[in-house]
Amino acid sequence: MRIPDETLAAIRASLDIVEVVGAYVPLKQRGSNYFGLCPFHQEKTPSFSVNPKLGIFKCFGCGAGGDVFAFIQQIEGVSFVEAVRLLAERAGIPLPQSEEAGEDEREPLFQALRFAARFYFTQLTHETSGKLARAYLKSRGVRPATAQRFGLGYAPKAWDALATAAVASGFRLEVFEQAGLVLPRRERGGFYDRFRHRLMFPIFSHVGKVVGFAGRLLEPDPEQPKYINSPETPVYQKGRVLYGLYQARHAIRKLEEAILVEGYTDVIALHQAGIEHTVATSGTALTLEQVRLLARYAKRILLLYDADPAGEQAALRSIDLCLAQGLPVYVVVLPAGEDPDSFVHQNSSEALQEYLERYRLDFISFRHQLARRQGMLDTPEGEAQLAREIVQSIARFPDPLLRETYLRRASEVLRLPEVRLFELLRVLSSTSLPSSSPPRIPSAPTSPPQPSQSLLPSEKLLLRLMLQEGRSMVAFVLGHMALAEFTEGPPRQLAARLLEQYEAGEPIDARPFLEGRYGAELQQVATDVMMDPYEPSEGWKRRGILVPRISDQAFEIAADAIVRLKLQRIDTVIHQLQQEQLRSQHDEARLREIMQQLITLQRLRQEISHRTFLNPDLLS
Ligand code: UTP
Ligand code: MN
Repeated sequence: MRIPDETLAAIRASLDIVEVVGAYVPLKQRGSNYFGLCPFHQEKTPSFSVNPKLGIFKCFGCGAGGDVFAFIQQIEGVSFVEAVRLLAERAGIPLPQSEEAGEDEREPLFQALRFAARFYFTQLTHETSGKLARAYLKSRGVRPATAQRFGLGYAPKAWDALATAAVASGFRLEVFEQAGLVLPRRERGGFYDRFRHRLMFPIFSHVGKVVGFAGRLLEPDPEQPKYINSPETPVYQKGRVLYGLYQARHAIRKLEEAILVEGYTDVIALHQAGIEHTVATSGTALTLEQVRLLARYAKRILLLYDADPAGEQAALRSIDLCLAQGLPVYVVVLPAGEDPDSFVHQNSSEALQEYLERYRLDFISFRHQLARRQGMLDTPEGEAQLAREIVQSIARFPDPLLRETYLRRASEVLRLPEVRLFELLRVLSSTSLPSSSPPRIPSAPTSPPQPSQSLLPSEKLLLRLMLQEGRSMVAFVLGHMALAEFTEGPPRQLAARLLEQYEAGEPIDARPFLEGRYGAELQQVATDVMMDPYEPSEGWKRRGILVPRISDQAFEIAADAIVRLKLQRIDTVIHQLQQEQLRSQHDEARLREIMQQLITLQRLRQEISHRTFLNPDLLS
């Protein structure tokens, strides 16, 4: 769907980017810009800035940047159109009718659901009507602030409390029926409430709209299900929504991890305990759609399941879904008889945090332990079967590099030689997988790739050396260069990503970049730097022209490029200052300043051109 440029311009004009961003990130003004801690990566000193005049934001640490739409896209994990819709709503600018096709018939449902959520919430706070429900929440240790954050409510003990309130407010009950809130009476006509005398959990979409409800019994009743859930409606499909995602999304993005639990109350208890990157499915098995949704925010998943056979089976299924989306997945099994909710209440949030760190198993170890408990390892056939199953799971990673590292892990856990597992992987990949090979991960929605920035040759060389030579080269180059010395945008992002990987102790490899695993922009820079037009061709070699391979003298070449790049950066500034010098002949004070700066820069230039670099090989 296309949104006219005038509409986009109108939305931009009526919103203050400082205000929009400020709702997520505390900002401080410094000069004409605003600064804060970047919400897109972890940092201690602010390198995230907003320029209200240009209407853009930029993080000098991680390179995230763009206009107000891009910000909402990235922080909310939504598509461009969704971002426009959110901001248009905030700006009070209607989107053209035709653009909202499909939205028209859904809007009344959203209104009905919003009305119901308010109604239930009011009932919960109501002096008499909400008494029992409030007491129930209290008995379960849910604080009022937590209840409010999740919009919890109470559906009164009556057949038509919601229906009556809705009619009194001028709603048509047919819409409420469509939204799954009321049901038609068989004999007398009219409608009655679906949810009665239940604690109400609104289910929010990832953009914060109420799309459905779950209602829990307040008193045990063997005649009735513990939870009643909204039916599927045009705005609610169980398999596409994750309970708690709306409240968890920022924490997930920041921590790069999402915890998946089974129950509504588990989500609430963990959030209240400060473990806010927690979500749940709505009483159904995890779906591919849900994993895709999570992949927009999370880089890995932690499954937190009950220690019963049902929990284990659910974990096994979820593991494969996550792997197929390229999301590494970890499992924590709770002590028998506990669920996350009971665990935090009986212990403490610190105890749970510690438990989550200490007992986190990668999926291979989890499978292995499970197999041992099930006696699968008692026979050679069982052992072979386990190896096959694990390799089959590993084969689901779309990323070959991850496949390799996990195979190495499997070889440790299974105590089988790596080569045997590689062999197995190759066999499995070539036979069963192509047909069922998973669809590519739709990477987080971002703005379209910029045309390739003008990279300086020495910078290009440095990026390439890092991608090609791996960790020790990254240490060497980024030990001598600040991220800010790389060209802003994708080149700097690439350097930042390499630094991140280095610091995380990960292996460094050009392949995932080239395969677009880190988005189209990085793919493009990586492609640019790795595709050197001056690469000695096969033809040269055949003709016997001797070209030294980069690797032979990698560090000398890098040191040389670092010096050249630094000098080029300084020369650019010197040139700019000289231009300004010409323009400000009448401004004595400024002229003196410029002179001072030029002297400093010349000195720095001298220093750099005579600097010698230590070869890290000699250091170690
Ligand atoms: P649980 O029985 O573990 O419920 O079911 P819970 O969330 O821990 O609730 P409390 O702690 O007993 O209050 C796990 C999930 O299964 C779905 C719900 O999504 C629930 O959160 N479920 C369970 C239903 O949909 N219907 C049911 O009748 C029971
Ligand atoms: Mn529970």
